[in-house]
Amino acid sequence: GEPGLKNYYKDYFPIGVAVSPQVLKGPEAALIKKHFNSLTPENAMKMGPIHPEENKYNWAPADEIAQFAKVNKMKLRGHTLCWHNQTPNWMFTDTKGDTVTKEVLLKRLKDHITTVVSRYKGTIYAWDVVNEAIDDNDSKYLRESAWYKICGEEYIAKAFEYAHAADPKAKLYYNDYATEEPGKRERIYKLVKSLVEANVPIHGVGLQAHWSIYEPDADAIRESISKFSALGLDVQITELDVSVYKLEHSRRERRPDDIDTYTPEIEQKQAERYKMFFEVFREHKKQLTGVTFWNVSDKHSWLDSFPVAGRKNYPLLFNQQLEPKKAYWEVIKF
Ligand code: G3I
Repeated sequence: GEPGLKNYYKDYFPIGVAVSPQVLKGPEAALIKKHFNSLTPENAMKMGPIHPEENKYNWAPADEIAQFAKVNKMKLRGHTLCWHNQTPNWMFTDTKGDTVTKEVLLKRLKDHITTVVSRYKGTIYAWDVVNEAIDDNDSKYLRESAWYKICGEEYIAKAFEYAHAADPKAKLYYNDYATEEPGKRERIYKLVKSLVEANVPIHGVGLQAHWSIYEPDADAIRESISKFSALGLDVQITELDVSVYKLEHSRRERRPDDIDTYTPEIEQKQAERYKMFFEVFREHKKQLTGVTFWNVSDKHSWLDSFPVAGRKNYPLLFNQQLEPKKAYWEVIKF
């Protein structure tokens, strides 16, 4: 039969996919085994899901994913140790409901990172340590998250140090989206360069790659890969999908020109975009240490509820019946 995506790319980079425990038990399981050799938990290892209360960890879903990776000899990426989203409220507040001090918060961050990274030591080869710490606005720098408001910039370096202490062999990544927008790229570069120069244990930059059939162009992607790898860091595509709508990250409203029908013309356009993206990835096989898709098939994508609920999207290589789309055949043709 047809060999599967990971086999076409065996001389390039691992091909990953973001999963929940549910898809590993569903009809997607066979597809995942055939095409992918790396997994990322879509939600199961985030702070809220895995550490819902100060003295309570919820390991089962994350362990299921780790077990599936082990049994099927797949790589496993960890996602994510420190983020402004999906972080439980208890993290930032004391028993009276008051905001905790910087000392308390850094202690909690250390406990969290040490516990989670230690559990998967030797199993997870790469961690997204800090996720999306840069602001989208060109007149700003660091995102004004609770982490930043309470700790200042320091929490970022600390997170990497705690992770490195818990598993010195794990590759540690800074991960973000819209990394091809010039202003945001510069701000991420500024942060990552400052970490490298301060000898913080950072080993890579994750380009999320939540892209669309309209943007970004090939040169913008080349520029991001080259710029970050010039710092001596690995680069990975960590959350690839190609929306069939115009995607502006600052936009939260449905646009009048958005359409809900996935026409053959749009599928063709998407296939051409996927072809271009993978050409650029193959050009950079020395710099890229992995390409991961954000979800398995068009049956389920986070983009079905973003930026608005109820607008179906079709951003992946496999359709709702789990069959390869036009884009799939372009990606393996080289
Ligand atoms: O688990 C609860 C469930 O118990 C509840 O009934 C249900 C009702 O809404 O919500 C479920 O949680 C949802 C969770 O996904 C699991 O399905 C959350 O509401 C929902 O917000 C969450 O969305 C995730 C999103 O991150 C959160 O910001 C997406 O699945 C996930 O794909 C997305 O992933 C992020 C990356 O981590 C970082 N980069 C951007 C990317 C896309 O937003």
